[in-house]
Amino acid sequence: MLKLVGVETFYGKVKALHGVSLEVKDGQLVTILGANGAGKTTILNTISGLVEPEQGTIHFNGKRIDGEDPEKIVAMGIGHVPEWRRIFPELTVKENLIMGGYLIGKKDLLYERMEEAFKHFPILETRKDQTAGTMSGGEQQMLAISRALIMRPKLLLMDEPSLGLSPILVQDIFATIKELHQFGVTILLVEQNVNRALAIADYGYVLTTGKILLSGTYEELLEEEKVREQYLGEGKYIRRSKLWNG
Ligand SMILES: Nc1ncnc2c1ncn2[C@@H]1O[C@H](COP(=O)(O)OP(=O)(O)OP(=O)(O)O)[C@@H](O)[C@H]1O
Ligand SMILES: [Mg+2]
Repeated sequence: MLKLVGVETFYGKVKALHGVSLEVKDGQLVTILGANGAGKTTILNTISGLVEPEQGTIHFNGKRIDGEDPEKIVAMGIGHVPEWRRIFPELTVKENLIMGGYLIGKKDLLYERMEEAFKHFPILETRKDQTAGTMSGGEQQMLAISRALIMRPKLLLMDEPSLGLSPILVQDIFATIKELHQFGVTILLVEQNVNRALAIADYGYVLTTGKILLSGTYEELLEEEKVREQYLGEGKYIRRSKLWNG
């Protein structure tokens, strides 16, 4: 469904991505793991057209999308839940959802989709006329996810959805991601919450300073010493925590 080959993205003269190649297959939940500044957000922003790669190619369902307008990429079926949610804080919940769905063009359909979002996240319905910036972090995250889903994306890019949330809300967000995946949404998830992300993912990539260092399934990555040391703490503990599957 999504294929990046040799993608290099720069900020001015600084190279943030050094030839990134990765693949997300139809129906998969793939995660990108990596420390602060590794280039995770840059990968997602390059896919959604917010930044343009200098080298390499990005194909989505067989069509080349690198260099396309972000709007066109959304219309092709790629939704993006950005880092720190980036909802419009001054607008109401309803207005935020309308903004997310403006490309739909038909008001009836847009409202239908909004009702679906409310069914999925009832708290958003009770808050629909409240300005989004006054909601809790978890509620804002639900709004950011709903805003992306309103376009019915085939592929959903999620940038650290658990960032800054309390443990209980983190649990909720991961449950939501798992559910979306089970509904059949293909997901590319960026996370620092490595254990939880790998536990729900079909496949993972480990990124260090703009390069893919390793990739594999949960089990394969757990076998890698570097992953255990760097991201999951001490080895023995990890083997036990493998039992964790929420
Ligand atoms: N707008 C920008 N202008 C210049 N440099 C940038 C810009 N955005 C990111 N960078 C740099 O590019 C590199 C990758 O940043 P990126 O935000 O993609 O990392 P990340 O893995 O998402 O990090 P984090 O975990 O902190 O979100 C970093 O060195 C960062 O300083
Ligand atoms: Mg980031």
